[in-house]
Amino acid sequence: MKLGIIGATGRMGQAVIRSARKFDVRVTAAIVSQYSTRYGEPIYPNPDSAGVRYQRAAEIQAGQVDVLIDFSLPNALSDNVALAQRLGVPIVVCTTGLAATQRHLLYTVAQEIPVLYAANTSVGVTLLRQLVQLAAAVLPNSDIEIIEAHHSAKRDGPSGTAIALGESAATGRGQTLAEVSAGVRGDGIRAAGSIGFAVIRAADIIGEHTVLLAHAGERIELTHRVSSRRVFAQGALQAALWLQQQPAGLYSMADMLQIETQLLQLAQGMKPL
Ligand SMILES: NC(=O)c1ccc[n+]([C@@H]2O[C@H](COP(=O)([O-])OP(=O)(O)OC[C@H]3O[C@@H](n4cnc5c(N)ncnc54)[C@H](OP(=O)(O)O)[C@@H]3O)[C@@H](O)[C@H]2O)c1
Repeated sequence: MKLGIIGATGRMGQAVIRSARKFDVRVTAAIVSQYSTRYGEPIYPNPDSAGVRYQRAAEIQAGQVDVLIDFSLPNALSDNVALAQRLGVPIVVCTTGLAATQRHLLYTVAQEIPVLYAANTSVGVTLLRQLVQLAAAVLPNSDIEIIEAHHSAKRDGPSGTAIALGESAATGRGQTLAEVSAGVRGDGIRAAGSIGFAVIRAADIIGEHTVLLAHAGERIELTHRVSSRRVFAQGALQAALWLQQQPAGLYSMADMLQIETQLLQLAQGMKPL
């Protein structure tokens, strides 16, 4: 498979380029912003990608890539999906911090090409979302707090993963996150049953999320920690390989891993406590 990586000079772009070989994927396009200081340089010295240089989106030719992975910034989203449309190839969007209008753009574009959107491409977080949905369904009256920690250079907060976990918890209770979100405020009285967020930014933390479900006298904490960016890179590459075989549509990591429905069915069969 010929891969185009968008955001190629970034932390995640570099992790994807380094991991591609293990998946029998050849990086044939490494796409940078129009202001990139790395434009024109050869990419990370991976023998399979010899001769590939950092390029701008406008220079990518039809047939150069079979699929795109986007690990860039939210303000590049419309250009990135326009590139996928121009080339007629699927796109795995891994960039976080998208606005509601941008999420809607993905939905619109997915009428034409396959799109997989994942604020977190790790298999562990995909499973965690299902576990949170199950726990929230069984304990519908608990107060929920989602605590996330990332490196100090992260731009958005709460993280896309924290918001996705909040959505999973709300779905488990038959609500929407907008109805019950307490946001990131720590002051004031917290409404019973709300879903709040706490954000930690420090040094080089790659990504940690804890979902705390509490009710009088006890609490449950479900935690996921990442110690290598390879986890995200490998999940994105696995998603790209899978997406290439799918018809146009909007997909998630849970669709790719096919783990979604089994746990939910289990939850529906249980009596809320
Ligand atoms: N889904 C997941 O599992 C997951 C995991 C980790 C991070 N993320 C998200 O992925 C994104 C990237 O994370 P990161 O840590 O790699 O950030 P980063 O190190 O800041 O890299 C972002 C890169 O995007 C490039 N860029 C900026 N505008 C662009 C444009 N218009 N077109 C193409 N490239 C552009 C920038 O460099 P140039 O100017 O040199 O092009 C930069 O190298 C963030 O939104 C982050 O939250 C997602």
